[in-house]
Amino acid sequence: MDTYFYGTFPKDFSWGVSSSAYQIEGGWDADGKGPSIWDNFTHVPGNINNNDTGDIACDSYNKVEEDIYLLRALGVKNYRFSLSWPRIFPSGRNNSINSHGVDYYNRLIDGLVANNITPIVTLYHWDLPQALQDIGGWENSELIDLFDSFADFCFQTFGDRVKFWITLNEPQVVAWVGYGAGTFPPNVNDPGNAPYRVAHILLKAHARVYHTYDDKYRASQGGVITLCPNIDWAEPKTPSDPRDIEAADRHLQFLVGWFTHPIFKNGDYPEVMKWKVGNRSELQNLPSSRLPVFTAEEREYIRGTADVFCFNTYTSKIVTHATTQLSPSSYEYDQEVLTSVDSSWPSSALSDHRAVAWGLRRLLNWIKEEYGNPPIYIIENGVGIKTTSDVDDNTRIFYYKTYIDETLKAYNLDNVNLRGYNAWSFMDSFEWLNGYDPRFGLHQVDFGNPNRPRTPKRSAVYYAEIIRNNGIPLHLQLF
Ligand code: BGC
Repeated sequence: MDTYFYGTFPKDFSWGVSSSAYQIEGGWDADGKGPSIWDNFTHVPGNINNNDTGDIACDSYNKVEEDIYLLRALGVKNYRFSLSWPRIFPSGRNNSINSHGVDYYNRLIDGLVANNITPIVTLYHWDLPQALQDIGGWENSELIDLFDSFADFCFQTFGDRVKFWITLNEPQVVAWVGYGAGTFPPNVNDPGNAPYRVAHILLKAHARVYHTYDDKYRASQGGVITLCPNIDWAEPKTPSDPRDIEAADRHLQFLVGWFTHPIFKNGDYPEVMKWKVGNRSELQNLPSSRLPVFTAEEREYIRGTADVFCFNTYTSKIVTHATTQLSPSSYEYDQEVLTSVDSSWPSSALSDHRAVAWGLRRLLNWIKEEYGNPPIYIIENGVGIKTTSDVDDNTRIFYYKTYIDETLKAYNLDNVNLRGYNAWSFMDSFEWLNGYDPRFGLHQVDFGNPNRPRTPKRSAVYYAEIIRNNGIPLHLQLF
């Protein structure tokens, strides 16, 4: 299980690095940008570790050329970033187009294309225009039309050069952390209901945008479009106990199948979700399931709305079955599983992010089996380290070496249809509730310096070597 495999990927394998708008751009109110829910949330003292904000972040809004220079030095084939909706539509609607925001993304995209770097563009990485939160955010089904009109504008404006679109980054986090646990804005703490309603709207919004691309742009632009769930491998606690095997699969169905079963399978939620949430709702004497139901027409509309399978992954979990608990009513309890981590797995700064490289190989095989061997892109993978001066980041090198090695095994030994791998993150950036600590970057950013200088870490040099060799051939053993 832990032996190294030496080998390479196919010639057109897409190596890249990833970022997101709010985490790196800064310029939070520059040139007419509207406020997002993250701008407002971070401006309230006490909400974020160390009261950090993304007001300036890595100042990438003013550093297009420098960022492209660093990407060239890495030798990446693609760069995945996101568009800030309120930078383009300050009020969230297409009656408020901010040409400065559009210019910024045009400069970035032109620079990438000029350097043969494929842009992979996310339309929504959590920074909702505040104006749209004011009408209820993703709890309001008007957001389906509004997101579609934003996406339509982006296809029309950037689609001549952007051929790889991601609608939603980690919809499970949007639904659960934003509307269930409530720790991310909009901080709705309604764990039994809102996440299911929000996910229902997110799925419809995703499907609408996919169809807009299909109907209006695909023929002339010829790109691909999908969404990007977060998936951590779920390892059954006692692999010889069928109840734990089922529980681990159930956990994956609630985490990822929630979104990908409708899209990659039959237009509907996984059977086990319908059964568990339905049954528990009945036991609560509710008139109907807390999990909403799609009409036949909606199922047909949602099914098949992804061209490739993208996902983000960081760690693995141990899962065991739990006996039915009636209360509280919560997405977490509905799963009837208990999750934990194995304390022997190497820990990183984020307590629940353990480095478990073999979990990624199992996960890739699970995706292959579950969804019929789709083309797969790993869009985020990396490790956070809690130190401001980790230029000499051997821990990160070890993480990448072992994780990439497991993807090599999945590709070469298990025939997983893997097409690309992106490291998170291009550079140290704003880590949501954690502020600027821990650091995930291949490049260090000095946040104490107004110029936000970037310094390649040892891991950047190592990753560039992996890219240059298209994998880990035998002679790369030196590292
Ligand atoms: C998110 C990133 C985040 C990373 C590390 C992912 O869930 O997509 O925005 O920085 O995790 O915490």
